[in-house]
Amino acid sequence: MDATRQRFLMCRPTYFAVDYAINPWMDPTAPVDADLAIRQWEQLRRTYLDLGHEVELVEPVAGLPDMVFAANGGTVIDGKAMAVQFRDPQRADEAPAYRAWFEAAGFEMYDPKHVNEGEGDVLLVGDHLLAGTGFRTAHASHAQLQEVFGYPVITMQLVDPRFYHLDTALTVLDERTVAYLPEAFSPGSRAVLRRLFPDAIHATMADAEVLGLNAVSDGRHVVLPAQATDLAAKLRDRGYETIGIDLSELRKAGGGPKCCTLRLRQGKASK
Ligand code: ARG
Repeated sequence: MDATRQRFLMCRPTYFAVDYAINPWMDPTAPVDADLAIRQWEQLRRTYLDLGHEVELVEPVAGLPDMVFAANGGTVIDGKAMAVQFRDPQRADEAPAYRAWFEAAGFEMYDPKHVNEGEGDVLLVGDHLLAGTGFRTAHASHAQLQEVFGYPVITMQLVDPRFYHLDTALTVLDERTVAYLPEAFSPGSRAVLRRLFPDAIHATMADAEVLGLNAVSDGRHVVLPAQATDLAAKLRDRGYETIGIDLSELRKAGGGPKCCTLRLRQGKASK
C-alpha cells in the first residue's frame, strides 16, 4: 500500500470553546480543558508532519470557537476552492476567513449558492464525490459541486443527528475503499454504498460514537481517534497502519481528526 504525500490546512484551536450547541455532542455547561485541546491538536499536527505531510495554517479568529474544524472551511480539488456557507449563524464568519486564505494561496475561487459545509460533507473517492445532506449541506449544493469540480456527485442522505456531517459517518481510505456506519444513512444511500463499495469496512456504533470514522488516510497510514479500537483492528487486518490520536476535548464540540483537517488538492505547491 502506497502512502501519498498530503497537503493539509489546519487552524490552531486558540479560541476553542463549547459556547453554543449546534449538534448533539455540544453541551455548553460541560467543562472543556482548552489547554489540553491545544496540546491534543498539536499532537495531530505533529503526527502529520512526522508522516511527511505538509501542514498549512490559517490564522484563528477570536470569537469563532469552531474555526479549528478546518474541514468545514471549503472544498479544494484540482486547484479549485469552493468557499462555504454555514447553516448556523454562529459559524458564519468563518467562511470569509477561510475564503481569504484560499484566495491568498492562489486557488481558483467559487462561491456557494446554498448551505455547504465543505469537506465535512464532501468527500472525493477516486473520481466520484460523495456529498452528504440531511443536516448541514443543502441538497441543492450538490449540483453546484458537480458543476464546479466536474466529478459525478453522489448524494448521501444522513439520518442520525449525531452523525450530522458525512465525515462523521464515512471515511475514505484510498481511491476505492471506504469505511462507514450503515445506520447513519438512509436505506437508499446504504444500497448505493453497497453497490459502489462492496468491499467497504463496516464500522460499529461503538466506533462511530467515539467519532472513529472521522479519520484521515494517506492511502496507507490512517490517523483516527485512539478510542476507536475495533475499527483500528479492522483497518490493520486490511493492511493499513493505524495511528490513534486522543482528541477528547475537541470531541466535546463534535469533531475529530478529519474535522480538523482540510485536504488541499493540487494547489501550486504539491498534489
Ligand atoms: N461544532 C462543529 C459544528 O457543529 C463541529 C464541526 C465538525 N466538523 C466536521 N467536519 N465534522 O459545526
